[in-house]
Amino acid sequence: MKGCGTSSKALPPLKADAASQDIATFLLGHLGEESGHSKIPPPRGARYKYQGVRPAPPEGDRTNTLLVILTITVLGLVGLMVVFSALQAPEVGAPEKKSEGAQIQLPAPKERGGRAIEEVLATRRSVRDYAETPPGLDDLSQLLWAAQGVTDELREFRTAPSAGALYPLEVYVAVGEVTDLPAGVYRYLPAEHRIESVVEGDVRRDLSGAALNQSAVEDAAAVIAIAGVYERTTGKYGERGVRYVYMEAGHAAQNIYLQATSLGLGTVSIGAFDDDEVKRVLGMNEDERPLYLMPIGRVEG
Ligand SMILES: Cc1cc2nc3c(=O)[nH]c(=O)nc-3n(C[C@H](O)[C@H](O)[C@H](O)COP(=O)(O)O)c2cc1C
Repeated sequence: MKGCGTSSKALPPLKADAASQDIATFLLGHLGEESGHSKIPPPRGARYKYQGVRPAPPEGDRTNTLLVILTITVLGLVGLMVVFSALQAPEVGAPEKKSEGAQIQLPAPKERGGRAIEEVLATRRSVRDYAETPPGLDDLSQLLWAAQGVTDELREFRTAPSAGALYPLEVYVAVGEVTDLPAGVYRYLPAEHRIESVVEGDVRRDLSGAALNQSAVEDAAAVIAIAGVYERTTGKYGERGVRYVYMEAGHAAQNIYLQATSLGLGTVSIGAFDDDEVKRVLGMNEDERPLYLMPIGRVEG
């Protein structure tokens, strides 16, 4: 308006509103995270238009609309039946809660008071020769906790990250000489921070045989084994889940390395072994695949 004393400015053209952007982000997130497929980036300059409220259909479209509604209803019912039967079926790869052998409660892990993380990172090395003095049950407790211990009681989240929080790893320990613990193979139960007897007696020599006779396996006081149950992760992420399981084994192994260094213990991540032999010696389940062996002992000197 001229001559009224006020000035006006042209506003910038309207862009896709926040709601439509949110929808795009949501859909892309689901493509990437839920289906297990790689996130497909939106094409350059792509915009997502919020459809808003649809206008009422013209009179002639009524029959078509009814047909569409009928089809959707039938499909919905079929969908419901599929979901219902899936819920009835046992969940693929869900962590098993088995209790076979005798269980031993481990001492509570320490969550503070160790060496600074930078110092531990700077001094971590693979150690293959160990002192005679055996580590204690508290040391073993701390190492198992570092590998897969529960740090969020409510959601049962653990020390190491896990794709979709599906926790495909199982941790075993072949004990030879650990104070106050009989020799044998034990499985770690993270939720209870317990170990459960799987095999009785010292299996270190057999385990070393399964690992190309690597001396560190036989000389260690104990050998931690990390196994993966691929189905727990591939059930959600498809074949890509296998790589997630390998990554998680790496996280757990590094946690063990760092915790061992902090405790004055030595370890080395061993990947060279015969899978079937390791499984047999450690009494692992059919669906568990051994990924790492980590001999543990006190550092000499
Ligand atoms: C995937 C993987 C497999 C490994 N397998 C073995 C093995 O079978 N035997 C062994 O003595 N060390 C093994 N190592 C340890 C490496 O030899 C060691 O990390 C490397 O020499 C670097 O030394 P550092 O760990 O002291 O930094 C393995 C390491 C990785 C990451």
